[in-house]
Amino acid sequence: MQIEKTEETGFCFGVKRALRILEEATEKYGAVETLGPVVHNQRVVDGLRELGVRVVSNPDQITGNIAVIPSHGMPPQVSEELKARGLKVIDSTCPNVRKAQRAAKALSEVGFWVVVFGDPNHPEVKGILGWAGGKGIATLDGEATPKLDKLPHRVGLLSQTTRNPAQFAQFINSFVTLFLPRIEELRIVNTLCHVTKKRQAEAVDLASKVDVMIVVGARNSANTRCLAEVCASAGTETHHVETAAEIEEDWLEGKSFVGVTTGTSIPDEVTEEVMLRLDQIKRGLDATT
Ligand code: F3S
Repeated sequence: MQIEKTEETGFCFGVKRALRILEEATEKYGAVETLGPVVHNQRVVDGLRELGVRVVSNPDQITGNIAVIPSHGMPPQVSEELKARGLKVIDSTCPNVRKAQRAAKALSEVGFWVVVFGDPNHPEVKGILGWAGGKGIATLDGEATPKLDKLPHRVGLLSQTTRNPAQFAQFINSFVTLFLPRIEELRIVNTLCHVTKKRQAEAVDLASKVDVMIVVGARNSANTRCLAEVCASAGTETHHVETAAEIEEDWLEGKSFVGVTTGTSIPDEVTEEVMLRLDQIKRGLDATT
């Protein structure tokens, strides 16, 4: 049995940057509070807690003097409110997310209604809409947009950074087919993250060669869920796990080629544990054949 992982695994530069900012903040100020987990990985969150990082779910829960905006960003109103309360705000928003926020702001300032291709409940998407000054909506379905009945004449389309390029293209296509007769001007800004794009391309490539794909990452991580979706859409049996312990021996039985990829919030040690677990299962299966 052959086991292969994609060339790119582990933290992306945006996550590494956010962790560095947090570590520097704890060194300088001691305890800090983040608005939501800085990354979607419990082991990382637990490690940060030991350094003095407390996670809160909304600004009212902040009790200290230092608040950190996580890598997926926040609406600008949140940091304004915190600063007005006299808190020091440290911003660890990923530069790629910042690009999407700036695009939303620029479009709305010149009169465009912003439509974000993304999960309306995801913090990054809520943040982008906040930068559009509330002049926009988020949806994953280009056709099911009942809220667009009163569509303004100028529309700007953006994407959540971690979405799949083919799905964004499909969304644009359906949107144009359905709404172009009703709008005067349409602007499309490609706000997809290049790291996610590359990782998805590598994952699909590997998925097309293997018998089973293991995708490692938090279940609430948008980029990991997208990775699992694209691997499954290649027609390959795909399992999304958070830890090595979740990998079941049955998945590998009778398989000759196993592929592994990870989301962007996964520490290298978790990838190593997954590779070790797969190797142990492989040895066990080899010994019985
Ligand atoms: Fe940023 Fe892309 Fe990572 S948006 S946080 S570099 S997945």
